[in-house]
Amino acid sequence: GRDLIGIEGLSAGEITGLLDLAEEFVELNRQIEKKRTTLRGRTQINLFFEASTRTQSSFEIAGKRLGADVMNMSVASSSVKKGETLIDTAITLNAMHPDILVVRHHASGAVALLARKVDCCVVNAGDGAHEHPTQALLDALTIRRNKGRIQGLTVAICGDVLHSRVARSNIALLNTMGAKVRVVAPSTLLPSGVESLGVEVFRTMEAGLEGADIVMMLRLQRERMAGSFIPSVKEYFHYFGLDEAKLRYAAPDALVMHPGPMNRGVEIDSAIADGAQSLIREQVEMGVAVRMAVLDSLARKLPNA
Ligand code: CP
Repeated sequence: GRDLIGIEGLSAGEITGLLDLAEEFVELNRQIEKKRTTLRGRTQINLFFEASTRTQSSFEIAGKRLGADVMNMSVASSSVKKGETLIDTAITLNAMHPDILVVRHHASGAVALLARKVDCCVVNAGDGAHEHPTQALLDALTIRRNKGRIQGLTVAICGDVLHSRVARSNIALLNTMGAKVRVVAPSTLLPSGVESLGVEVFRTMEAGLEGADIVMMLRLQRERMAGSFIPSVKEYFHYFGLDEAKLRYAAPDALVMHPGPMNRGVEIDSAIADGAQSLIREQVEMGVAVRMAVLDSLARKLPNA
């Protein structure tokens, strides 16, 4: 379709096509001259109703490197603060004839709803606990570059699965690409019926990490938890924080990932985050290339492209 709302519904061929295109942009981004003209004359608006460091900045850089005029809507100082709704905000921006809207919102389904009200392409930059498709694509690119494949790998996704759109998008992508997906979390941080997503469920790190090729840690999203359900940080780190001792259960050549932002000492030990098995900084680099690939492929579907 015209939009990218989720990984759900993308075929293995479509995912591979985006990853192959992103590889070209990895090379481009390492050169001194990084600009292309694919989006010249096009307007991209980044509309982030939730905080972001990586996603917003890399979408801005990606759009600019492809030649688009990029506008970052400052939601904090917008009329959203006066009570204007998501839909009215979208309709207002739509009247300015953007070509691409990149949207992050705290409610699951908000980005799909917005996409039905505007004429331009819409890219989901994270909606509630639903999907964060470009995160899963950048994670897949990072895995493929380091392991040479995705099919057949055992990937353990650990921690706050309940609140994680990153987990949902990654589960969908990894299953489509033929990986074996595990989730590792206390019962309180697992969504009900998680098995139906096509994952094997583990409740201890020792069992869940056994022989894993990729250990993907998730941020403990305390801002989405109600008071008494917030686990004690010390206890959480003891049982579910990734440290050297727990990582030893994974395959000897296992690689560690985290989408960021990290809570050091909560879900991951600093020594692991900065250690030789960590891909965390490479994930950020891949984020720019993947977002360029997504914008480039959408550009081909724009009117008069
Ligand atoms: N991984 C991720 O989405 O990070 P930001 O919230 O900083 O964009």
